[in-house]
Amino acid sequence: MIANLYKFKNLDRCCLALAEHIVALAQQCVSDKGIFTIAASGGTTPKTLYRLLAAPPFAEKMPWQQTHLFWGDERCVAPDHPDSNYRMVKEELLGQKLPANCTVYRMPGEKAPEDGAITYEETLKKFFSDGQNGVPKWPSFDLILLGLGSDGHTASLFPNTPALEENERWVVSTPPGLLDPQVDRITLTIPVINNAAEVAFLVAGEKKKSLIELILAKSRPISQYPASYIVPKGKFVWFIADA
Ligand code: 6PG
Repeated sequence: MIANLYKFKNLDRCCLALAEHIVALAQQCVSDKGIFTIAASGGTTPKTLYRLLAAPPFAEKMPWQQTHLFWGDERCVAPDHPDSNYRMVKEELLGQKLPANCTVYRMPGEKAPEDGAITYEETLKKFFSDGQNGVPKWPSFDLILLGLGSDGHTASLFPNTPALEENERWVVSTPPGLLDPQVDRITLTIPVINNAAEVAFLVAGEKKKSLIELILAKSRPISQYPASYIVPKGKFVWFIADA
């Protein structure tokens, strides 16, 4: 699917547009099938987005009761650790004045990395399997949010790592990349991300604009830029802020 790029002067405007996009998608999914499944991204950029979704007007428009919140990746730390993606989402989205009372499926970062990956894959298989057809080959999230690291990683899919070659498992553990925090991770795999109904990158900063061009052009060995492996079968959008 061709990527649609939406560019904004600053992160606030970018996240306002992405929040509107997410609310509209969530409302449509709930209208069509009664639920909305979203995998949150970690890091720092999405904090602005999560704060917007947790406050008026978006908080009241989001169908939180029918929303199922997952994570795209997690650092292998305790859920209250400063580096935890769960803690960041809890602080910026779940714990606000208008609590997002959605159903939360936390990645167990406190477990040994492989145990955490296996546990979360079991959680996903239980959620996405249905009475008639059992467990699908791949889960289909309605939306997977992704960020982009300055080394071209996304989720916790780091350059030149075995996780990039995984084509059976839904969730794997992986050693850290070159960027901080230097802790093991748990991450959704590329086939899972590519099977989503929609993938949305949220990227901010002048330095990452040239990286985006390289990634979309696939002009370098893609093992060097894992985000290049993201070629979703569904909708593919990039929300890009200059600053
Ligand atoms: C993580 C994220 C990671 C993040 C990028 C961009 O666990 O760190 O999931 O993939 O999205 O590193 O992070 P920033 O938005 O903070 O630049």
